[in-house]
Amino acid sequence: MKKILITRRLLKACEEKAAKIFEANFNDNDELYSQPKVIEMSQGCDGILTSLTDKMDAETINKLPDSVKILSNFAVGFGNIDLEAAKKKNIAVTNTPDVLTDATAEIGILLILGACRRASEGIQHARESNWKWSADYLIGKQLTGTRLGILGMGRIGQKIAKIAKSLGMIIHYHNRSKLSSEKEQGATYHDSLKNLLSVSDVLSICCPASKETVDLINKDTIEHLPKGAVVTNVARGDIVDDEALIDALDRRKVYAVGLDVYKNEPNLNPGYLKHKSAFILPHLGSATKETRTAMANLAIDNLEEFFKTGKCKNKVN
Ligand code: DGY
Repeated sequence: MKKILITRRLLKACEEKAAKIFEANFNDNDELYSQPKVIEMSQGCDGILTSLTDKMDAETINKLPDSVKILSNFAVGFGNIDLEAAKKKNIAVTNTPDVLTDATAEIGILLILGACRRASEGIQHARESNWKWSADYLIGKQLTGTRLGILGMGRIGQKIAKIAKSLGMIIHYHNRSKLSSEKEQGATYHDSLKNLLSVSDVLSICCPASKETVDLINKDTIEHLPKGAVVTNVARGDIVDDEALIDALDRRKVYAVGLDVYKNEPNLNPGYLKHKSAFILPHLGSATKETRTAMANLAIDNLEEFFKTGKCKNKVN
């Protein structure tokens, strides 16, 4: 039986599945392991089922025991893992694509609706019983006819586009390459970020975090947005320069933000908290029972496939 470390607690049924296949070291208290602790706990292990809260940087990877041959990340994103360092140490890295597309796109739409329709303020007033209906009370932005710019038209971006289109939004996108017309579904392609931003009444950030995308939304690029744009992020906090976005909120260049992901989670930049127009969620993208189950099962399957064949269809490095 292969020996694995599972760094975070999984749903019970998934841990039961893992226990049948591997000699698994579980984290019953769901403690957040430090990097030295991950190194210590992985002694004698053949693989690690990591989560997005594990920062597997080059230093940590280099100190892992040589027996570790795979990091199976319990997420579609793998910005928490230094892929090059893993490759150099001959460690495979896998992710969990597809299974979380729908759940994450749902949250992407919630962010757009919450930010455009002033949900944060509405929830607060309703909870405090501090409101009265009037014709001009909490007037927000209607989505019908509004241009939605999707940054990163992968699986999640395409699903958001599909739902947003049914809400009457007009879809624009920027990607490394133009999609086939079947995948595009009538959306307009922009070959530069600047062009996309200039037509984005609402921006939905859906691209992966990578060296190329860190702080892509910054002081300079924000200026290409129309005045009063709405910025939403369902991907990774690293893509946004928080100070620049908060400054844009202060100046009303940006009308509202809808965020589910942050740099340095869970310690989001406190500048967002002072803005009533910030609709903020605690990284709920994939948080449904169906999806978390499917993600964990896929992360386990990735380990099993890799141990059996030395290959894995969800290998990302
Ligand atoms: C992912 O899989 O990358 C999601 O952000 C997890 O919620």
